[in-house]
Order: sequence, then C-alpha cells, then structure tokens
Amino acid sequence: MTAPDGDSGWNPRMHQGGKLAFRSRVQDGTDDPGAFLVLGGKDPPALHELVPAGFDRVEIEIGPGKGAFVLAATAAKPDTFLLGIEAATGYASLAATRLRQSGRGNGLFLVDNGKLYLQDRVDEHALDAVHVYFPDPWPKRRHKGRRFFTDDVPAVLWRALRAGGHLYVATDNAAYAGQVARVMGHSDLFVRDEAEEARVLALGAGHAFSPTNFERKYQEEGRVIRRYAFRSLPA
Ligand SMILES: C[S@@+](CC[C@H](N)C(=O)[O-])C[C@H]1O[C@@H](n2cnc3c(N)ncnc32)[C@H](O)[C@@H]1O
Repeated sequence: MTAPDGDSGWNPRMHQGGKLAFRSRVQDGTDDPGAFLVLGGKDPPALHELVPAGFDRVEIEIGPGKGAFVLAATAAKPDTFLLGIEAATGYASLAATRLRQSGRGNGLFLVDNGKLYLQDRVDEHALDAVHVYFPDPWPKRRHKGRRFFTDDVPAVLWRALRAGGHLYVATDNAAYAGQVARVMGHSDLFVRDEAEEARVLALGAGHAFSPTNFERKYQEEGRVIRRYAFRSLPA
C-alpha cells in the first residue's frame, strides 16, 4: 500500500481492510497516561518487548475503548498481564490514564490495529486469551472488510493463542453474532466452550465479558447481548 499524496500522517497499519476510526482528545494537563500508553505508529514494539518479566499469563483485548474491561481485569487477575490494543488514540490515552491512576502495573494500552498486531507482533502461542467486546459492526457492504471477524480471523487467533487458550466475544448485534458463530464455529481450529462461558460469568467482573462501557449502555437500553467463548484446539 502506498500513502495518498500529501498525507504525512498516513499509517498503513490502520488501513488494513479500510481506514479505521480515529478520535482525538485534547489533553487538559491533568491527564497523563505516562508509560501506560504506547503509540504504535508505523513500527509498533513486539508483545515480548511490552510485557515485563515475571508474567506467565498474557491476555489481549482488541478495541477496549475507554478501557473498563482492562481496568477490571488488572484488578481481578493481578498475576496476568493485560494489553489493550485500541485504534483510537483518544480512547487509548483516556484508558491508560485511568490505569496509571489505579496504581496497578499489570497492564498497558497500545494504539494500533489489533488484528494486524496479532499477526505480526505476537509470538506463536504467546497468549492465554483474546477479548473482543462489542466490535464495530461496520454495517455498510463496502466497509465489511473492516470487521474483525472475517474469514481469516480463526487462523490469526489460533497462531497467537496457546492450545486451550480462549477467545471471548460479546456483541449486541444479532447479524454480527451470526457472523462470529459462522466464522468461528465452522473453523476446525476452535470449539465453542459453553462451560467456560458459564464459569467466567460466575466469577464476575474482570474475568471475561464484563464490564465494558458498551455493555452498560446496551443493558440500560434492554438489548439482548450475546456472549461466546471459543477454545483453541491443539494442532
Ligand atoms: C464499539 S467500541 C467498543 C469499545 C469497548 N470494547 C466496549 O465494549 O465498551 C469498538 C472499539 O474498537 C476500536 N477498534 C475498531 N477496530 C479496531 C482494530 N482493528 N484494532 C483496535 N481497535 C479497534 C474502536 O476504535 C472502538 O473503540
């Protein structure tokens, strides 16, 4: 891919499958994400460069938005390192500021394209879990390549997850839930794990699925939320 003429801020990582959304946010002087925010740019650091020594378990959330799940997960799972990969710099900065304020050292936010990061910056079978909550549905036909759950995603996830590791997904969008069930359910690399869905829901906030900002909003609106866990199968 080549940059359109005159676009000096163009980043090919954010144009895989079409341009991802960006929202900027003015820093007011009290916000300081410090070392809890990494701007990936055109050459983001690999996962093993971001995870401090001593963490045996590493999980990634793709599209954490304002970071409610990563914040809760760093509290619920102090021995696990949580990396939130967010395309929108403003959201990632806000989430990283909150994480810094929490005083916990087992998490980080990175600005990058989450799917591409799994493909080219995560060592094989390095992850215990991947979380994707309320992914953008991109309803227009011409935008469908921007969706996370396209046909290539099981292989991308399987390479990054250890055998027995889990993908956790939640969505309010019935059509997108159908696409997730079709893409993941038809893959021979994963199996749906309903026992794991029940287990993590019983454990409560920060283990998987909950809490997220969109979950709260959609629950208040009375929408049906579908939650799935898929377990990675051995080779
Ligand atoms: C609908 S919001 C959901 C936010 C959060 N998961 C929640 O439940 O509150 C989707 C988020 O995914 C981010 N996003 C979309 N595509 C992405 C990608 N390829 N990599 C990383 N983040 C992405 C968007 O910027 C947005 O913040």
